[in-house]
Amino acid sequence: MSAPAPAQRKRVAILISGRGSNMTSLIAAAERGDYPAEIALVLSNRPDAGGLATARGRGISTVALDHKQFASRETFEAAMQSALDSHRIEIVCLAGFMRLLTPTFVERWSGKLVNIHPALLPSYKGLHTHERALADGVKIHGCSVHFVAPEMDAGPIIAQAAVPVLDDDTPDTLATRVLAREHQIYPMALRLVASGATRIENGRVLCAGVSTDADAALVSP
Ligand code: GAR
Repeated sequence: MSAPAPAQRKRVAILISGRGSNMTSLIAAAERGDYPAEIALVLSNRPDAGGLATARGRGISTVALDHKQFASRETFEAAMQSALDSHRIEIVCLAGFMRLLTPTFVERWSGKLVNIHPALLPSYKGLHTHERALADGVKIHGCSVHFVAPEMDAGPIIAQAAVPVLDDDTPDTLATRVLAREHQIYPMALRLVASGATRIENGRVLCAGVSTDADAALVSP
């Protein structure tokens, strides 16, 4: 495949609140010449987020906007929007960004706002997904990348990956197994979105040029 010209690469902002391991996987993917997106900005609502230093170390512009310094969600998001505008951002990836977004912001970015969630949506929206999956005794768990809708952890699903739940799993061991799959599917999903391969039809994301093994199955135990 020939490399996309720089002008054709979508300018992406990654929003983080913490260590930014998913951010790092997206940065690594975008460092490849044939990737259809470049990471033009990393923004955090927490000035102490570990991922900010990682991004700076990779030569990426960073912005820290401490949400506690803003009087309202709306004024915080106005500051975010102005950072996104000044960096000419075309796609926003939430990667462990732990702030709820207002419907106004979500609608402004409709179809261009993507999130990763550590569960097989629509199961286990919200927090503590691994603890809850273990408590329910599910045998298969996983992660999802989806377009963001105004409701929390909802919106058309772009990609999912499943992992087995083992008898001796703890929330931490299960989180580690899921996280490895997050790092695999987020760069893959962003590639699909940034290259224009995705379209939404009746709430489903259809992907052009992707072939899925119809016989693939994960059986657990
Ligand atoms: C990831 O597991 C991500 O799926 C989750 O936060 C973690 C961030 O880790 N996101 C959510 O729970 C959003 N609902 P990271 O900072 O190492 O990417």
